[in-house]
Amino acid sequence: MSVTLQAYLRDFAGDDAQKQAVAAAVARIAQAGVAIADLVAQGPLADHFAKVRGADPNAGGDTQKELDVIAEEAIIAELKQAPVAFLGSEESETPIPLNAAGTLVVAVDPLDGSSNIDTNVSVGTIYSILPYEAARFPDPADALMQKGAAQLAAGFLVYGPSTVLVSTLGAGTQVFALDRASGDFLLAVAAVEIPAETKEYGVNQSNMRHWDTPMRAYIDDCLAGKDGPRGKDFNMRWVGSMVADAFRIFTRGGVYLYTGDKRKGYAAGRLRLIYEANPVAFVTEQAKGAATDGTTRILDIQPEKLHQRIPLVFGSRDEVAKIASYY
Ligand code: AHG
Ligand code: MN
Ligand code: MN
Ligand code: MN
Repeated sequence: MSVTLQAYLRDFAGDDAQKQAVAAAVARIAQAGVAIADLVAQGPLADHFAKVRGADPNAGGDTQKELDVIAEEAIIAELKQAPVAFLGSEESETPIPLNAAGTLVVAVDPLDGSSNIDTNVSVGTIYSILPYEAARFPDPADALMQKGAAQLAAGFLVYGPSTVLVSTLGAGTQVFALDRASGDFLLAVAAVEIPAETKEYGVNQSNMRHWDTPMRAYIDDCLAGKDGPRGKDFNMRWVGSMVADAFRIFTRGGVYLYTGDKRKGYAAGRLRLIYEANPVAFVTEQAKGAATDGTTRILDIQPEKLHQRIPLVFGSRDEVAKIASYY
């Protein structure tokens, strides 16, 4: 019999109050994921999901699609039933108050891969769970400014050919897959290990002319192949939904790069520290991979703003170290 997410979380929590709170939050996020997966699966039958909602971009400057907002609403509805005090979200400028007595704060990217909604390509949800004490954080916004190393749990869901949850509770990274017959997430991989070495990278190459010098030098060396300084041929894969690129990396290794570039507003790249880079860095490290901004471990960076961007390189640890050597 496969282990259900519920049973796994119960076993993890035991009678520890903080772990029980974390378990409740993860279970609620997974439940929201089941609902979002059903919406995503409607594809062309619900083509309005990809329509831009309203004239104003979100706080980070992205246009908001219908499904970005609907996914956020589904997560809020679930987390209202968990001991979560505040929710920080890509789609809301300031933290959303949930439960005054909550002992956690959660940060989410409700829908990652917004530009892929109407293309029948995987999208997902990313979450980060941090401890909260009202006395320590008179301003709730500050609770979301904890370093990634303070995360109690993190992970992401991918709504693809299968709906999967990649989760860490702080001891290794597990993959659960949604069993559509029962509606349960079942444990599929108990301890994920990202291969240390790789010959595969993921990058939006159309930005090449904007890249900084180290990034350009690294990709040039990969492109030079067997006869170049790396002495091997590389393969390139880029879905454009970070969650899908991340799941491939968790499956067979690889590196994902979105570093700073010369475009206006892209000095720190495209990804957001609190609800994209930190959770992905946590599950990556727990799977024996690595995540850096080029010079600093992602989990050691002190956040300053909820929607702050950060250059992000993550995946196979030897290749991430190699990339860092260019910086
Ligand atoms: P989001 O849809 O949550 O705003 O995030 C999109 C991110 C990430 O998923 C993806 O890898 C990257 O943006 C793609 O950016 P480009 O369109 O610049 O390639
Ligand atoms: Mn967005
Ligand atoms: Mn995203
Ligand atoms: Mn998003």
